[in-house]
Parts: sequence; structure tokens; C-alpha cells
Amino acid sequence: MRNLYLATAFIVVLLISMLGLRGTKFTHPPIDVFPEWAFPGMKQQPKYKAQGTSKFFADGRADRPQPAGVVAADFGPLGEPLRTDTHLVSGKNSDGSFAQGFPASINVDLTFVQHGMERYTIYCAPCHGALGDGNGITKQYGMGATPTYHDDRLRNMPEGEILNTIIHGKANMLSYADKLTVEDRWAVIAYVRALQRAQTGTPADVPLAHKSELGLK
Ligand code: HEC
Repeated sequence: MRNLYLATAFIVVLLISMLGLRGTKFTHPPIDVFPEWAFPGMKQQPKYKAQGTSKFFADGRADRPQPAGVVAADFGPLGEPLRTDTHLVSGKNSDGSFAQGFPASINVDLTFVQHGMERYTIYCAPCHGALGDGNGITKQYGMGATPTYHDDRLRNMPEGEILNTIIHGKANMLSYADKLTVEDRWAVIAYVRALQRAQTGTPADVPLAHKSELGLK
């Protein structure tokens, strides 16, 4: 008897779920267990969805076109280096070739390089390794193609070309433009240069005060 009840209940639920509500559109809002009037908050707010419609605007679109002359705030006011200095922003000279060296508005000092080290350690070291030799942690997990910075091609690569790789990525390396600000990118480049210098150091590069620690005269 009990099984019969259960089987009947099961069939009823099955039939309702198969036939009952299929394709029916509700015209009333669903029952709200925590209604807005009793629990005022921001659960229900008037909003527009992307590419939705609006009765308010004459053209019926919820998305509003930008007023003429608007630029992204990151680019700063007119005349700022971020808008005018292609070396700084894209690493290119006005003729489209990659720029050598650091842009004039970037001041490479110790704090700047240390900031680059911090960003490098977060964003680049997992693949390129702490020494820039391509032996990051990802190598152990099968990503074998990360190049070392310590060959002549990369030592002689213009800073602008490194910037270009950071902005656009290359092959298996993704773009880091969304993670690093323009200044961060140059700080990382300064640190890449520091890593390269560190591998080609000679006893003559050791500051006088530290020579004795290394047993040098
Ligand atoms: C997911 C791993 C990964 C990360 C993270 C990564 N790279 Fe790379 N990078 C690669 C690989 C792989 C290549 C080789 C691309 C190729 O096939 O030429 C490469 C190439 C490069 C090159 C050489 C480009 C060339 O023209 O040969 C530079 C410079 C470089 N990366 C800098 C960076 C910097 C700076 C960061 C951090 C902002 C970074 N990479 C983060 C994987 C990575």
C-alpha cells in the first residue's frame, strides 16, 4: 500500500513537471520570501542591463553614447605624456620602430627598480623564474618554452620591444596590460635589465664597500 502511495505521488509530480508549467510565462513577480518592504535594502533596485532598452531616453537605448571628445581617464588631461609620448605608451618611435632606452618621463632609481621587482615577482617570475632564466614554477608543470633573458637577443632587445611584449603578449605569454599600469610596465623592464646585468657582473661592478665581503680587493 505504501509503495502504491509513493508511486502515485511520484507519477503525479512527474506529470506536473513534464506538462504542467512548461512554456508558461509568469505575469506576476515570484513570491518573495524576504519582501523588500519588510527588509529594505538594495535587493531590488531599478537598473538597466547592458544593451537593454530604456523608455526614458528618446532613442530607446539604455547604453548611452559617449559625449564627443571623451577619453579614458587613465590617459590623463590633454598634453600629458600618456597621450603624447609613444615611447612611454607603446614603446615605439614615431616611425614605428621600437624605442631604445627609457622614456624621459620615467626616472629609473632604486625605488623604481624595487617596485619593478615586486611586480615582476608577482606577474613574471612564475614563468620566467626569479633569475629571469626561464626556470619558473610553471616549467615543472609542463610549460617548457619560456625563454631565458640571458642571451644576446634579449640583452640587445630595445626596451620598447619588451614593453610591446608586456602589452600584447607573445605566443604562450598573455598580455599583462590589464595587470600593470604604464609605470609598472617600465618598472618591470628596469628590473628585467637589472636581472640581465646581474648575470654579467664582473668583480669591477662590486661597490667598494662590499668588496671585502666577497674576498675581493
Ligand atoms: C605564463 C607564463 C609567462 C608569464 C607569466 C610571462 N611570460 Fe614572458 N614569455 C613567456 C613565453 C612562453 C615566452 C616565449 C614566447 C615565444 O614563443 O616567443 C615569453 C617571452 C617573453 C619575452 C621575449 C619576447 C621575445 O620577443 O622573444 C619577454 C621580454 C618576456 N616574455 C617578458 C615577460 C614579462 C616582463 C613578464 C611579466 C610582466 C612575463 N614575460 C610574463 C611566458 C610567460
